[in-house]
Amino acid sequence: MAMQKWFGEARLGIFVHWGIYAVDGVAESWAFYDGTVTHEQYMNQLHGFTASRYDPHAWAELFARAGAGYAVLTAKHHDGVALFDTRHSDLSVVRRTPAGRDLVAGYADALRERGLKVGLYFSHSDWSHPDYATVRHPAPQEVPVNDSRFSTPPEGREDPARWDRYLDFRAAQVREVAELFRPDLLWFDGEWERSEEQWQMDALARDVVSLLPETVLNARLTGHGDYATPEQGLPVEPPEGPWELCLTVNDSWGHQHTDDNHKSVGQLVRCFTETIGMGGNLLLAVGPREDGTIPQAQADRLLGLGTWITRHAEAVHGTVAGLPPGHHYGPSTLSADGRTLYLVCFGTPHETVSVRGLSTPVKRVTVLGNGDVLAHRVTGGLGHVPGVLWIDAPTGGQVDPHATVLAVELDADLDVYRGRGRQ
Ligand code: GLC
Repeated sequence: MAMQKWFGEARLGIFVHWGIYAVDGVAESWAFYDGTVTHEQYMNQLHGFTASRYDPHAWAELFARAGAGYAVLTAKHHDGVALFDTRHSDLSVVRRTPAGRDLVAGYADALRERGLKVGLYFSHSDWSHPDYATVRHPAPQEVPVNDSRFSTPPEGREDPARWDRYLDFRAAQVREVAELFRPDLLWFDGEWERSEEQWQMDALARDVVSLLPETVLNARLTGHGDYATPEQGLPVEPPEGPWELCLTVNDSWGHQHTDDNHKSVGQLVRCFTETIGMGGNLLLAVGPREDGTIPQAQADRLLGLGTWITRHAEAVHGTVAGLPPGHHYGPSTLSADGRTLYLVCFGTPHETVSVRGLSTPVKRVTVLGNGDVLAHRVTGGLGHVPGVLWIDAPTGGQVDPHATVLAVELDADLDVYRGRGRQ
């Protein structure tokens, strides 16, 4: 296990779900699992997957301009279709689709050239593998598992020997991914259908760590891994330790042309600043078309977020979680040296921006990305109970259309008061 400094500094990653599901625009893997289409219809998409306009350098350029420090690509999703030339199965875009080539190596190279870290997603579960649906999850289950024939054999029809074979297959593919691409981050998924013991996560983790001692691992390597992965909803209380929120730009992980429910740039700025204000990373998901192009609506959101991040880079990169809830009406971050607090203000602040419970004296407040100095003063306070810090609200051109950041330079290390006053 190896949490790396780069991960905490990156703050933003881009999640890429790319696979044959983009051909018809159905839900990645889930479409046949939940019966929306048959397995045969789903696999028919193999014939339409071309990657004909795949340009990993263009991806890397877009991700960098979005302000991301890394990306995570689905090397293999629950449908079992590998984006790389696996020796252990013929179910890959290399052997079974018109694309006819490995799609992971180019991605890894392009990212590295652009200075981005390389993440790969790998699903423990494989709903197309003949040996997968051979054992049942022992009750009680934390996440309810459907009685799907793709994951669970009928009652009384378990076959542990075949399950062992499946485990060997998974271990071999994970080893392949590790050796071929040497990812900086491995993003496991699909763990919920078996227990930690059934998965033999200890053995897998040992294997991965010995091959890739410096690779960051997510905690869907149950019982192991370096960070937590809340999904699709920002927790109100941050998880303990390092974490990353994965979130779709619209409502789908993969490309679904009927899904136009995109979050606005303003909403993404909110999600992003709220996440980093609680010390997490945001892993923002896009779904390329079968030809490898990223829909303009998604690219535009990424670029919009990137413009905001570039302007406010000082409040983003190299910062840590800011004030705990209750001090400021909005997220905040803190510089690594603990001497500058960055207050994020949504909308147009009126009259004053206030901060309660700030014990450290303030030297100066400026508008980030603009440099204008804002007047500030403190009223009230008694003994060790600090008064309220009032900062003149930014106005006119000082206000950012999405979120204005005020850089509060402190006179000493940040110290906050969270007591209850005189009882
Ligand atoms: C879920 C889904 C999957 C998606 C993943 C991303 O586990 O099964 O489709 O890839 O979330 O976090």
